Amino acid sequence: MAQYDVVIIGGGPGGYNGAIRAGQLGLKTAIVEGRGKLGGTCLNVGCMPSKALLHASEMFEAASGGEFAKLGIEVKPKLNLVQMMAQKAESVEALTKGVEFLMKKNKVDYIKGWGRIDGPGKVVVKAEDGSETVLETKNIVIATGSEPTPLPGVTIDNKRIVDSTGALSLPEAPKSLIVVGAGVIGLELGSVWKRLGAEVTVVEFLDRILPGTDTEVANAFQKILTKQGFKFKLASKVTGATATDKQVQLTLEPVAGGDAETLQADYVLVAIGRRPFTQGLGLETVGIVPDKRGVIANDHYKTTAPGVWVIGDVTSGPMLAHKAEDEAVACMELIAGKAGHVNYDIIPGVIYTKPEVATVGKTEEDLKAAGVAYKVGKFPFLANSRAKINHETDGFVKVLADAKTDRILGAHAVGPNVGDMIAEICVAMEFGGASEDVARTCHPHPTRSEAFRQAAMGVEGWTMQA
Ligand code: FAD
Ligand code: NAI
Repeated sequence: MAQYDVVIIGGGPGGYNGAIRAGQLGLKTAIVEGRGKLGGTCLNVGCMPSKALLHASEMFEAASGGEFAKLGIEVKPKLNLVQMMAQKAESVEALTKGVEFLMKKNKVDYIKGWGRIDGPGKVVVKAEDGSETVLETKNIVIATGSEPTPLPGVTIDNKRIVDSTGALSLPEAPKSLIVVGAGVIGLELGSVWKRLGAEVTVVEFLDRILPGTDTEVANAFQKILTKQGFKFKLASKVTGATATDKQVQLTLEPVAGGDAETLQADYVLVAIGRRPFTQGLGLETVGIVPDKRGVIANDHYKTTAPGVWVIGDVTSGPMLAHKAEDEAVACMELIAGKAGHVNYDIIPGVIYTKPEVATVGKTEEDLKAAGVAYKVGKFPFLANSRAKINHETDGFVKVLADAKTDRILGAHAVGPNVGDMIAEICVAMEFGGASEDVARTCHPHPTRSEAFRQAAMGVEGWTMQA
């Protein structure tokens, strides 16, 4: 029987980054994955394929929507969806193979099959052919991720009514698409199909998009999307959906009560959130009872069962790849007797639309609710020379700092490439930086990063370019 220091169940960003770190720390490690490929949701049906389609569709729209023509580049683009999907699949394949290589490089055993805990220190892996392997281990790390939350009354067939996985592989560019849920997936994948020609209607239960995101940013973003042609039906409750071979009929009614309405579209994407995945995991054999946030750690990734740890989407906190990755590293360091740590106050969130939305730290709503006195610095991309020259002036950057100490408490932005640039604020915050630190740091000109500097300057009221 194989003996390990660590057996990780789940090969996503939590699992594979944890396995690499465990290998580096000299722990004898196995990673168990059931889907036949490493990389989890993120590489196979999440972050990476969605970004491949976001990029390709952005290029298509730039060519077909007048942006190239405005720059003096005349082309007659034609959509080749088969090739667009093929290049996506090729990149995903290369990434998952890369992760497999990293397992070998770090001396981690990759065991294919579905893992189940079978009492303390024991994991049973069932392979595709039905055979079972028993692994004995000092530590079990649960990294089994999440799955789409179902919508009562709406059956996902992944033909006409799809979840995110189906929406990443539609066989044609729809003429019309209804997205249920104005969250991250709905707006990213809605953007993909919008750019490829679909009329997109977003149906949202709440009276706003992107709940939890700074309200000023979310409202500005909704206006930008509306300008791009998105239609929004907020405060609306979906009551059912019927699909034929060719179309879907979706019924909805106002949340506050009122007349029901029927919408028709070629496809419906349901993206109302994700929930922790623990099916068949044998949690009961070690006395773990998950709640709706998943398997809860009571102390630094330790579950209630001795020697059983949990990281990533399957436990509480934001369901983001970089959060899973950071928890994985910290968890392995703790297992190895070192000091692992994740700063949950500084986990950025990015929506990879055009323009992008990026946030880190506290929102204005958070600070008001906590009674924290704060100052605001804001800068519009309209006044940023690089954004202006590139015709990308939608959006703004907002920096929030403590009114007394000037320490940065959060930053929220909508605009070109803000997803990359928010990292600057993360680093500043990690060092306990003040808005003045960012304001007095020399930034290259002309770059869009100057908008972040100018917003930081704005906290003290000495913005130069607005
Ligand atoms: P997962 O990636 O879900 O991996 C868990 C793995 O465990 C899966 O491969 C599963 O097959 C396996 N597994 C489960 N149970 C067992 C078992 N019993 N035995 C063996 N294997 C098992 N996040 C970002 O930060 N940025 C993005 O741009 C982004 N885009 C996304 C786009 C989409 C469409 C979706 C759906 C998600 C996106 N996410 C993004 C979220 C991101 O994918 C997750 O936060 C991340 O994958 C979580 O990592 P994880 O390791 O916890 O779980
Ligand atoms: P989400 O939580 O981002 O958004 C779900 C939306 O659906 C919310 O606006 C919610 O109010 C709404 N909703 C809930 N129930 C509803 C109902 N019955 N009818 C209509 N609307 C309803 O969830 P989403 O978009 O499914 O994404 C899941 C998670 O995946 C994200 O929270 C994020 O953690 C991760 N993700 C991250 C990405 C990124 O980092 N760029 C990209 C895609 C996904």
